Amino acid sequence: MHFLTSITTLSAFAAATLPITLAAPASSSLQPRADPFVGYLVSTFSDVTPAVQFHLSKGNDASSFSFLNKGQPVLKSTVGTKGVRDVFLAHDSARTKYYMIATDLDINAAGFNWDAATRTGSRGIVVWSSKDLVNWSAASLRTVESANAGMTWAPSAVWDDATSQFYVFWSSRLYADSDTKHTGSASLDRIRYTTTKDFVTFAPAKDYLALSDTPLIDQEFQYLGKANNFARFLKNETVNQVYVETTTGGLFGQWSRTPGYVRPESPREGPASFADNVTPGLYHLLLDDYTQYVSYQSTDPAKSGAWTASNYPNFPKGLKHGSVTPLTQKEYNAVAAKYPA
Ligand SMILES: *[C@@H]1O[C@H](CO)[C@@H](O)[C@H](O)[C@H]1NC(C)=O
Ligand SMILES: *[C@@H]1O[C@H](CO)[C@@H](O)[C@H](O)[C@H]1NC(C)=O
Repeated sequence: MHFLTSITTLSAFAAATLPITLAAPASSSLQPRADPFVGYLVSTFSDVTPAVQFHLSKGNDASSFSFLNKGQPVLKSTVGTKGVRDVFLAHDSARTKYYMIATDLDINAAGFNWDAATRTGSRGIVVWSSKDLVNWSAASLRTVESANAGMTWAPSAVWDDATSQFYVFWSSRLYADSDTKHTGSASLDRIRYTTTKDFVTFAPAKDYLALSDTPLIDQEFQYLGKANNFARFLKNETVNQVYVETTTGGLFGQWSRTPGYVRPESPREGPASFADNVTPGLYHLLLDDYTQYVSYQSTDPAKSGAWTASNYPNFPKGLKHGSVTPLTQKEYNAVAAKYPA
């Protein structure tokens, strides 16, 4: 029984009520930049060590990385479950405010089970902040979900220049307001969102994308180099496959589904996408095959079947759901000096 009987996608809802068109984030490799990007930083975790880990590319080579901090975590959660998964590094376009955000979930905890994790899981995200990528605040647990939500999974964020705030997305399932202990049946997993300027205070959570027939998790966006042009990657939890949609109308515009799935032959989750720093129009996509990240690439993200496996034999093993951030020389030098491999 789904207590939400009439589910509309927010793209339709928002068109009427929230005329938001997002300005181009600064992470576009197509825009002329005063500070060119010189490498990539992967923020990730592992099943055995649910803490934030950094891998830094060798220059702008998306196939070759060093495990920073001698393979030790750079940030450990001291709040909530004290474990983190689904790590995402967000920053403003001026690159003066960085936020590491993550799911608050320790699957190795005594008595852990997935059913409880989706009924009475954490409704907060773990947040660390920094002005320079190397001097980080202590961890905070910030509640972003309402009391009828079962969990808050896989947060990601997009900075909006026009409103000087972040849009923060995650997935959850919702229980009837009368079911305060969340023992009954829930809605399907859907994508939720809020806005924040500082990852301290947040607007009330709302639905972003809720389908009547498909549980959805693990959404991530990719800016496509032109104002309001984005791809988004979503996991269909019925088939455990990742699919792609694209828009020319901003995050709250109309989206078109690319038929099929990125890798229809086997289960994938946890997409992390990034533009190539060297080749305009080339995009990379990391997908977790339930053991580790596998690397794909495409010059036409909207085209069906366009993602091919990258021939990256040296790509690091064991990486899980994370994010990839292009770095300026100053940022690259800072993380390499603070967290030597
Ligand atoms: C690190 O950040 C804290 C505030 O979060 C600040 O007090 C301190 O001076 C900073 N240290 C360095 C070396 O920048
Ligand atoms: C998810 O997979 C199920 C099973 O194949 C299918 O019926 C449903 O339409 C899919 N939904 C999306 C959004 O891909």
